[in-house]
Amino acid sequence: MLVSFEVGATKKGENVFVSAASGAVGQLVGQFAKLHGCYVVGSAGSKEKVDLLKNKFGYDEAINYKEEQDLNATLKRHFPEGIDVYFENVGGKTLDAVLLNMRLQGRIPVCGMTSQYNLTQPEGVTNLAHIVYKRVRLQGFIVADYYHLYGKFLEFVLPHIREGKVVYVEDIAEGLEKGPEALVGIFSGKNVGKQVLVVARE
Ligand SMILES: NC(=O)c1ccc[n+]([C@@H]2O[C@H](COP(=O)([O-])OP(=O)(O)OC[C@H]3O[C@@H](n4cnc5c(N)ncnc54)[C@H](OP(=O)(O)O)[C@@H]3O)[C@@H](O)[C@H]2O)c1
Repeated sequence: MLVSFEVGATKKGENVFVSAASGAVGQLVGQFAKLHGCYVVGSAGSKEKVDLLKNKFGYDEAINYKEEQDLNATLKRHFPEGIDVYFENVGGKTLDAVLLNMRLQGRIPVCGMTSQYNLTQPEGVTNLAHIVYKRVRLQGFIVADYYHLYGKFLEFVLPHIREGKVVYVEDIAEGLEKGPEALVGIFSGKNVGKQVLVVARE
């Protein structure tokens, strides 16, 4: 929703790259970009997730970043003309490689930087000068900034879900005692889809 209508503002035919693409946020972002008529590539950390991206969420291509020796070269192969919109969920090495592959006037909506959250010393990003060379707009946001669009979001997404044009995968942990394990699992990619914790069913 945000990438479609606000920060990233994708247009038909644009090239879109999404990191943590099978997660809670990424799975929807990719599908919304596809609904906008974009070419969409996602990255995720396992074969199972790559299959999900291509076969369930309708991504055009998917990358298992954990198996990539040279992410820059891989992005060049998938985006010979460059990336118009990179939806940022992970930061670090992925952002560095993406910056080398952005197109002129590209946009990077920054939703999160999961790879940096638990580091005592955050990694450096070395290719920031490409923001200037390519006139890239990089903008962070917090979901609460867009609560006023929640009604519009439901109006958009509910009919698509009912018609099966937008799908989602949840990873359900049962019981409050599973909370810590589920939370820690997010940082090693254990979750497949949106991590949900069911406290009680009655
Ligand atoms: N701005 C906001 O208002 C807002 C709101 C909600 C969430 N967020 C942020 O948006 C991002 C996505 O959130 P989400 O809820 O959709 O999470 P998620 O994608 O469901 O879970 C996080 C995923 O990140 C990947 N990951 C973990 N460590 C990584 C690393 N070192 N490098 C690359 N990928 C790594 C893992 O998948 P793999 O198996 O693919 O590695 C993991 O499954 C997070 O950064 C979160 O903090 C921001």
